[in-house]
Amino acid sequence: MAIVYAVGVGPGDPELLTRKAERILRSVDVILAPVSNPSEASVALGTIREFIDESRQEIIVRQFPMTSDRAVLMPAWQGAADLIAAHAEAGRSVAFITIGDPLFYSTFIYLLRILREQWPQLPIEIVPGISSINAAAAEAALPLVEGDEKMVVIPATAGIDQIKTALATYETVVLLKVKSIYSEIVKLLRAAGREQTTIFVERVGSPRQKVLTDFDEITAHSPDYLSLMIIK
Ligand SMILES: C[S@@+](CC[C@H](N)C(=O)[O-])C[C@H]1O[C@@H](n2cnc3c(N)ncnc32)[C@H](O)[C@@H]1O
Repeated sequence: MAIVYAVGVGPGDPELLTRKAERILRSVDVILAPVSNPSEASVALGTIREFIDESRQEIIVRQFPMTSDRAVLMPAWQGAADLIAAHAEAGRSVAFITIGDPLFYSTFIYLLRILREQWPQLPIEIVPGISSINAAAAEAALPLVEGDEKMVVIPATAGIDQIKTALATYETVVLLKVKSIYSEIVKLLRAAGREQTTIFVERVGSPRQKVLTDFDEITAHSPDYLSLMIIK
């Protein structure tokens, strides 16, 4: 039975891949790349293109719909787990690639549960990646936390009330998945007087990277899915 790897490829800059990730990606037989929309390219796959050899390795791009409906998600996760297990059982090593880190708000977490439950004998290795949060903080040269400070990470999909409570509780609030309620977030930050202490980062580590610190620019911007905010 071959090894199944979950490889964090970082935020999008190939130079932010670990040496371990590169070594494994060069060596595996199969690479499985997730996409949420079949008409869009896989960001994770784009990040590792220079390290792989399509003449020798099988590249599979698989769709994982962007929905919270488990009736839609479960068959997608199960199908991917079946595929991974079938390759590994046939002796072919597989790397499931994920943007950022594989255990940080990643589809791989669901796959890991299924694989552990249904194929307990399958060897699984997880290679951590640089999360978008660390990459964004680095681009903005913004210390995330120091000393006794506390930080919270909230997917904005959790709702505006959670964000409001977090702003009153933690020294640093990181918001992921801001696109869906962006205008509400901006309104809240203005009301809470956080105009000077908010940064917005989109597609960090890619040629389309945008780092905004001016609150009027943040307000006027229309973010895409790969966007986050750090609020001090
Ligand atoms: C499902 S989570 C994936 C997090 C990822 N596993 C990580 O470690 O960064 C997706 C959210 O992460 C953030 N994100 C991921 N990649 C990003 C990037 N390159 N630039 C800015 N935000 C990013 C966005 O908030 C996006 O909505």
